[in-house]
Amino acid sequence: MGDDARELARLVGPDGRVVGLDLSPEVLSRARTSAAGSSPGVSYVAADGHRLCFSDRSFDGCRAERVVQHVDDPQLVVSEMARVTVSGGSVVIFAPDWGSAVIHGAEPVVSVAVLQAWGRSIRHGSVGGGLPGLLREAGLDEVVVEAWAELTTLEGYPAARGQHDWDVAAAAQAAAAAGDISEAQAEAWLDELDESVQQGRFLMSLTCFVAKGIKP
Ligand SMILES: C[S@@+](CC[C@H](N)C(=O)[O-])C[C@H]1O[C@@H](n2cnc3c(N)ncnc32)[C@H](O)[C@@H]1O
Repeated sequence: MGDDARELARLVGPDGRVVGLDLSPEVLSRARTSAAGSSPGVSYVAADGHRLCFSDRSFDGCRAERVVQHVDDPQLVVSEMARVTVSGGSVVIFAPDWGSAVIHGAEPVVSVAVLQAWGRSIRHGSVGGGLPGLLREAGLDEVVVEAWAELTTLEGYPAARGQHDWDVAAAAQAAAAAGDISEAQAEAWLDELDESVQQGRFLMSLTCFVAKGIKP
């Protein structure tokens, strides 16, 4: 969050202000204390996106990245973002569609089962393709959407495994716990995946969406 807040502060200039909002005080504390996040003009607020603590039309623009797939009610969060945006301002949302994820390098049938378990662990794992509808339902106009495949390549794999939402071992165990694959298949799949990384065959792709709407 700190990196994004600093970049937004650069874009709005010295007279603008940027507010970074998250439910988690820990996330905000990390952003506040990071060199990247502590720019002048940036402040942080611990609050729930379902009930934004700002008046109507307080911001020229609002964005949420990789958030709406985790909230209880994505429509309410997008509507709140629309409420606090000025007329003519933009609301921009980024979200992936976990139903589109593909892993190449390990046994394909087990890969599908693991990816399905992974998608189920995310509250609204397939919300990405629904973003234009959420923006229109929130009363926004001129809705546009773009999609691309985000690739995790060989080089990115070790770093990606360190991210909290990139835990292949937990996903394989979840697929086994659900009875979709056996424990032995899960173990063998993880070994095969590591081997595919070492041998240069690993590739993962995930379709990501970014949608924008304008407040009338
Ligand atoms: C995958 S992280 C993305 C964080 C940040 N947007 C970024 O791109 O680095 C998802 C974040 O959504 C936050 N979150 C989940 N539910 C929320 C809610 N109801 N209101 C505000 N933030 C929420 C979590 O605390 C978490 O920090």
